[in-house]
Amino acid sequence: MGYIRAMMFNRKAASGRSMPRMVLDSLPLKKGNTVADIGAGGGYFTLKIAERIGKSGMVYAVDTDERSLSFIVKSAENSGLGNVKAVHTDGGVPDLPPRSLDLVLMRNVCHHIGEPEDYFRKLKGALKQKGIVGIIDYMGSGSFSFHSLFHHSIDEKELVMWMRKAGYRKVISFDFLPEQSFTLFGPE
Ligand SMILES: C[S@@+](CC[C@H](N)C(=O)[O-])C[C@H]1O[C@@H](n2cnc3c(N)ncnc32)[C@H](O)[C@@H]1O
Repeated sequence: MGYIRAMMFNRKAASGRSMPRMVLDSLPLKKGNTVADIGAGGGYFTLKIAERIGKSGMVYAVDTDERSLSFIVKSAENSGLGNVKAVHTDGGVPDLPPRSLDLVLMRNVCHHIGEPEDYFRKLKGALKQKGIVGIIDYMGSGSFSFHSLFHHSIDEKELVMWMRKAGYRKVISFDFLPEQSFTLFGPE
């Protein structure tokens, strides 16, 4: 069941509506970077990022679901990628080396975070001084989609407000995704 769930996340992440190529091209990824994919799901983006940052980089695939993490580790092995490490979390800020991350990606997971202001304030400890947090989530306000009705979405204005209170500034917002907001934040 765990693997079916992981494969479903991956099918969705790879679909045309998710525009994965444009998402990846919009992330400030360089060879040798250290990245955390928080709420990695089936690891579609984890593996794509691992390819882009190369052998000298590292991607931490973070999730609350152990089966998702073992699926990601196996997929990375099968793809010959040795730069993916699984990190389990109970839902709180993952235990990652301080000041190590060039980039954090959180795609369709932010709406699961209970206390976002506190969460992102703590997460800042794992970010490098010029690190970036990329947040993609279903748009909340003004839409009557499945995602907003079932609270699987966030209001972008609220997100910017939480992030500001947690000590981040908005770097850029992209508006090419049809159903999701996509914003990059950096520490103040
Ligand atoms: C909708 S899936 C998105 C998967 C992936 N980011 C993608 O875009 O394909 C959300 C994932 O976040 C995980 N998750 C939920 N709450 C979490 C938390 N607080 N910390 C880390 N992962 C979490 C779930 O187990 C699930 O795998």
